[in-house]
Amino acid sequence: MRRILSLVLSVSALLLMSITWLLLRKPVSTERKDHMERTLAIIKPDAVMAKNTGNIVNVIENNDFSIVAMYKTRLTREKAENFYAVHKGKGFFNELVNFMASGPIVVLVLEKEDAVKAWRNVMGDTNPANAAPGTIRNLYGTSIGSNAVHGSDATTTATDEIAFFFPNV
Ligand code: CMP
Repeated sequence: MRRILSLVLSVSALLLMSITWLLLRKPVSTERKDHMERTLAIIKPDAVMAKNTGNIVNVIENNDFSIVAMYKTRLTREKAENFYAVHKGKGFFNELVNFMASGPIVVLVLEKEDAVKAWRNVMGDTNPANAAPGTIRNLYGTSIGSNAVHGSDATTTATDEIAFFFPNV
């Protein structure tokens, strides 16, 4: 009889502990704590022409970006004008458009935490002469116009630029 009573008490205690744990445990958070982001990258005509596409893709992967999508294309002058419309009216606009339409480019959607900022750091300063050692523009750029790569400058721009080249991504 005593053994039965002790068994009943143990089972009840276990049940009580389980119910208390269920009631007090923290709910599982569904909030993402990372800042996973996408950005648009372009390997420009100078870098494609110099056969640096592979080297630049290596740098991208060595810096832990995921390549979500990628293809090689060639811009018409009109498409280059539309892509860089924000620079219309600036002294270098014509030079920029002519250059971007001068040969094949490779466009990529990159994903990583804080991808916009991270990709800009990996690219280096717009002017290769000021780009930090080891950055892509330091390694493969030759002038402010022929600076090997492009990257979106903000998350809002990234959304528009990705849609420009990748309407289905
Ligand atoms: P990108 O990051 O593609 O964005 C706009 C581009 O304009 C920039 O890289 C440069 O290649 C180009 N650019 C900016 N300033 C000048 C300049 N003063 N002369 C020629 N091209 C420029």
